Amino acid sequence: MKTLIVYYSLGGNTEYAARRLADRLGADTLRIEPVKGYPTAGFRKFFWGGKSAVMAEKPPLRPYDAHLPGYGRVVFGFPVWAGNMAPPIRSFIAENDLSGKRIAAFACQGGSGAEKAFAKLRACLGAGRLEAELIIIDPKDRPDAENDRRMEAFCAALKA
Ligand SMILES: Cc1cc2nc3c(=O)[nH]c(=O)nc-3n(C[C@H](O)[C@H](O)[C@H](O)COP(=O)(O)O)c2cc1C
Repeated sequence: MKTLIVYYSLGGNTEYAARRLADRLGADTLRIEPVKGYPTAGFRKFFWGGKSAVMAEKPPLRPYDAHLPGYGRVVFGFPVWAGNMAPPIRSFIAENDLSGKRIAAFACQGGSGAEKAFAKLRACLGAGRLEAELIIIDPKDRPDAENDRRMEAFCAALKA
């Protein structure tokens, strides 16, 4: 089963996790970026990113080539923003046909909100459940054995 990890990362934590998971799963990765980037620091980062997430925006994405027909599984990776998935993931889902694919997801967060974000992701996909879900805490900025354990369990579930 070929797997593509589609992720968005503002501060590098989701990217760090995506690379580690790709290594373990033998997966390819696709980093998506909005045409108009979100602020990366200070109050503006939380204000504009949070507002965009709460409004369920679908910001236009920079061109990408996903080669989706070649993959049986897509793993979405995103930071949790105000209890939502980061908006570029919504854009990707809206503009691609994911029918027939297995879908899993991982969320990076600083504290809480990932469960709510997963519920919104499932609603967005029209899926009752995902193949596997993983929640980790700032894996690049705050390395932690519990993050490692959860990542291993996620990979094991997808390999089973
Ligand atoms: C706009 C914004 C909103 C956020 N909202 C939440 C939140 O609701 N819950 C939480 O635990 N962390 C929240 N965070 C923290 C990030 O989810 C967390 O630091 C994540 O690991 C960052 O991933 P990244 O480095 O790939 O961007 C927020 C960060 C930003 C920028």
